[in-house]
Amino acid sequence: MFQILSMLLLETQLYVVSALFTVEVPQQLYVVECGSNVTMECRFPVNGSLNLQLLTVIWEQKRQGQSKSKEVYTLRNGKAFPPSQHRNYTGRAALLHSELKQGRAILQITSVKITDAGSYLCLIDYQGVDYKYITLEVKASYKRINTQVMRKPAEDKFVFTCQSEGFPLAEVFWQNEKNFNLSGSVNTTYTVTTDGLYNVTSILTFKPNVSENYSCVFWNKELNEETSARISTLALMSTQYSGQKSLILFVIPMCVMVAVLPSALIIFHKRKSFKNGQPKKDRKRKLNPNLKDENRDDFNSQTEALYLSTVTASRESGSVGL
Ligand SMILES: *[C@@H]1O[C@H](CO)[C@@H](O)[C@H](O)[C@H]1NC(C)=O
Ligand SMILES: *[C@@H]1O[C@H](CO)[C@@H](O)[C@H](O)[C@H]1NC(C)=O
Ligand SMILES: *[C@@H]1O[C@H](CO)[C@@H](O)[C@H](O)[C@H]1NC(C)=O
Ligand SMILES: *[C@@H]1O[C@H](CO)[C@@H](O)[C@H](O)[C@H]1NC(C)=O
Ligand SMILES: *[C@@H]1O[C@H](CO)[C@@H](O)[C@H](O)[C@H]1NC(C)=O
Ligand SMILES: *[C@@H]1O[C@H](CO)[C@@H](O)[C@H](O)[C@H]1NC(C)=O
Repeated sequence: MFQILSMLLLETQLYVVSALFTVEVPQQLYVVECGSNVTMECRFPVNGSLNLQLLTVIWEQKRQGQSKSKEVYTLRNGKAFPPSQHRNYTGRAALLHSELKQGRAILQITSVKITDAGSYLCLIDYQGVDYKYITLEVKASYKRINTQVMRKPAEDKFVFTCQSEGFPLAEVFWQNEKNFNLSGSVNTTYTVTTDGLYNVTSILTFKPNVSENYSCVFWNKELNEETSARISTLALMSTQYSGQKSLILFVIPMCVMVAVLPSALIIFHKRKSFKNGQPKKDRKRKLNPNLKDENRDDFNSQTEALYLSTVTASRESGSVGL
């Protein structure tokens, strides 16, 4: 339970005037989006001008299902008391001091986290002690959905991936535009991030109909909120292009090497012939047909490219050595 509470309750009994001193909350429940700021307010009576030295304000948080409370902010005799603040709140919790003279103890928490949710106790000691509870709920919509399309060439299937973070745990559905049943295997998994969010990844593996668009729907049951991302058939086209792109990426270095190798060889031979005084033209002719052989499949030309690049490298370092 709230540890400081019992201690101060004893103190309360000593105050005769305590019955007159009451803390009030204008709002009992706050619901905020993860990452935003929140200000929660408790009111206490101030007669005339505030005597800060007599004021103690304690804000504590207790999460559902946890027995220990965390100290969020403490003002003791008018001074901030940071040593006892829980590390979860360092740099994020503040008491709006300018509001105190109006009898408002306003706690501000910036960039609210899922773990900030829970029950907040505000205890105020100002010639009398009283406290109230405030509930903070934190929600996180599955706002940004990352999509990815991959191709499984061996099975002629596509792999659609949707990934997003939010809270509470969402269910994921896959749809196309006409009928809602998609045949294919869906695998939805999740991890929990350090901030307490659910990182949900859903993978659909199937053979798509290229004339239809597909979408994944993240359904946040508790917030009754739905977000979705559409995978247009254009994305399918682009993966087919990306297959060609990688081919282009491979062809360009090949062309460069085809262009560089003969000139490197020419330089090499010129140096050699300069040293030996005897050009070796048949060797050059032996290498060139290999380079022009374009009837090989990708696998072979790739190994060839590796082979050629090593050859080029060793030859170049060789010529440096000379
Ligand atoms: C939250 O408060 C911080 C500090 O006062 C401020 O810099 C930031 O812009 C606020 N964020 C939002 C979303 O209001
Ligand atoms: C407020 O303060 C004045 C004088 O400072 C005093 O006469 C009065 O009784 C106080 N009222 C309360 C409710 O404490
Ligand atoms: C779903 O994916 C997870 C992680 O990628 C994997 O461990 C699990 O075996 C998969 N389940 C099925 C039914 O494919
Ligand atoms: C969420 O999961 C995906 C894939 O499992 C990973 O790439 C990503 O980094 C994760 N994001 C966070 C914030 O943990
Ligand atoms: C693909 O979609 C088109 C247009 O909606 C439809 O006519 C066709 O039958 C579909 N093909 C398959 C295999 O579902
Ligand atoms: C799929 O989406 C793309 C772009 O979002 C759109 O141009 C296209 O018409 C859609 N296709 C169908 C069959 O609705």
